[in-house]
Amino acid sequence: MAEPQAAATRILFVGDVVGGLGRRTLLDCLPVLRERYAPTFVVVNAENIAGGVGITPKLADELLAKGVDAITLGNHTYRRKEIYPYLDSQSRIVRPANFLRSQPGHGTCVVERDGVRLGVVNLSGNLYLRAGRSAFTEIEVALGELGEVDHVLVDMHAEATSEKVAMGWHLDGRVTAVLGTHTHVPTSDARVLPGGTAYLTDVGMTGPRGGVIGVKREQAIESLLTQMPVRFETSEEDPWLMGALVSCSQRLRADSIEQVLMPRPPTPGA
Ligand SMILES: [Fe+2]
Ligand SMILES: [Fe+2]
Repeated sequence: MAEPQAAATRILFVGDVVGGLGRRTLLDCLPVLRERYAPTFVVVNAENIAGGVGITPKLADELLAKGVDAITLGNHTYRRKEIYPYLDSQSRIVRPANFLRSQPGHGTCVVERDGVRLGVVNLSGNLYLRAGRSAFTEIEVALGELGEVDHVLVDMHAEATSEKVAMGWHLDGRVTAVLGTHTHVPTSDARVLPGGTAYLTDVGMTGPRGGVIGVKREQAIESLLTQMPVRFETSEEDPWLMGALVSCSQRLRADSIEQVLMPRPPTPGA
């Protein structure tokens, strides 16, 4: 059989990994997804990987050791103090580029595989989230930082769909993909915009679908019912990996985008 896809670059992007269950789900699903899609790059949003909030150097190192090319973050970036120096020293982990310059870490990175250079940019929405500067002005600085690259993936970590849709249109034709994270709920609007940018408002999370965006559902419901503080724990029910696969054959353009929704494979012997 011929290999018509041989020249294509494929980018697998995985949404917010939630807690230990999300991490195990990612690691169990990745070999299957590598076999199915042969992604050139794997980029993972891991802002919730440490017990549901934040990330530690050990967990970041593990992801990178398992072949994850780059890690993106979001509003939970600074929940674990031990990650602060790591954010400055490890180039392949990015926090929103529109945080203040004085905050630890950086918002862009470039990774390379098979001679292809992928720029990764993390942004935070400004509505309902704390980000010191505008995503819409800082994206220009971030794109300038990347220099010469073949593809650019923007993780737009935002609460409001309007900001994400607007960023998709704003960057259409200038980056390969604008993919949303943060809400933990996947949207069904994956498409390639007219200028060639792959777009999806939210890829969803990698974690327990049986909870409420990652939290045990009884606790989330109790909090809403009683309006009193409730200690939240990560749900262990019905883990899925959620993400998107972007295929590209021209510089800074996507040919297609496909939503990836996959339940954690059954554990052998379980
Ligand atoms: Fe978030
Ligand atoms: Fe998240």
